[in-house]
Amino acid sequence: MLPPVDLGAALRALLILPRAEQPHAVRALLARLPPPAAEEPWNTAFGPDSLYHAFTRCSVARGLHGANRAVLRPLFDARPGFRVVEVGGGDGTLWAGLLRPDDTGEIVVVDPHPDGAAGVRRLAPPGVRVHHLVVPVQDAALPEADAVVCSLVLHHVAGADAAARAAVGLAGTGKAEALAAFRAAIAPRDGRVLLNEADVYCDLGLAPGDPVLTDRLLDSYVRRFSVSLAHDLATRTDADAALRARWTAIVRDWSLAQVGLAGAAAYADRDVYELDVVSWLGLVGRAGLTVVERRFTDRWLLFHQYVLSAGA
Ligand SMILES: C[S@@+](CC[C@H](N)C(=O)[O-])C[C@H]1O[C@@H](n2cnc3c(N)ncnc32)[C@H](O)[C@@H]1O
Repeated sequence: MLPPVDLGAALRALLILPRAEQPHAVRALLARLPPPAAEEPWNTAFGPDSLYHAFTRCSVARGLHGANRAVLRPLFDARPGFRVVEVGGGDGTLWAGLLRPDDTGEIVVVDPHPDGAAGVRRLAPPGVRVHHLVVPVQDAALPEADAVVCSLVLHHVAGADAAARAAVGLAGTGKAEALAAFRAAIAPRDGRVLLNEADVYCDLGLAPGDPVLTDRLLDSYVRRFSVSLAHDLATRTDADAALRARWTAIVRDWSLAQVGLAGAAAYADRDVYELDVVSWLGLVGRAGLTVVERRFTDRWLLFHQYVLSAGA
């Protein structure tokens, strides 16, 4: 039986090491943390007991969803009968406290997971219809819309575009083609795209095994995300024992373990393909989208929100 680990103290000890020594310290910390009762890879379960549901209760996720609600609510008020495309539904947390009983409109969820629209379906009032396109965004024909919300999804799509993918032997389209499809969807209605992504570069420009890739993953998943969860564990009085256990499991399985994937043998085996803010700005410009506003949505400067229009 492993002794309990004080996660905050362990992370503090790790983060004062020279950066080149931190990957080894991450592996050592992983070995000290107890394995969870059950494995739950990212994006495989969204029910009330899932790790995903626990993720939506942590501070960085709350900041992100709150910032998206603050943009969407005035849009819904101004446009009764709105149509929103939500790319990647997760557990539907965005919609809690956002939709009102007398709202009318339509939400089109694009998500290859069969439960990807279950959360929003539960929360939608009678006047809001929910459709589910059970396909990845790369394969979806998007309808015109007042808003396209794409929160924490495009980092699952490897590569800036089809050419960047082809260069490393991957077929299909990348992020730029998805952004162009979002622009085409909002242009007829002068709508908005809401994009949320972490500010970190770990896309195909860094080859498997590159120490820079390891350092970038460590930067977002350990120096920012794990630290934010350790802060939640130390300060959030609203979290019961079950939620705290799931946050600890998230640190272990979805955060510290992520650093090990930098050494994966193939480009396709990486779990995430994220971009930093500068790279996103270049890509959204290339897709003909204009930044209306943007900001970090948490105090750890992990997640960035981009509000985009199709206009010049
Ligand atoms: C990290 S969750 C984000 C959920 C939600 N947007 C949020 O901000 O909480 C990612 C979601 O995107 C879905 N997803 C993963 N790859 C996708 C793809 N290529 N196209 C559309 N959805 C995808 C997953 O099934 C999951 O529901």
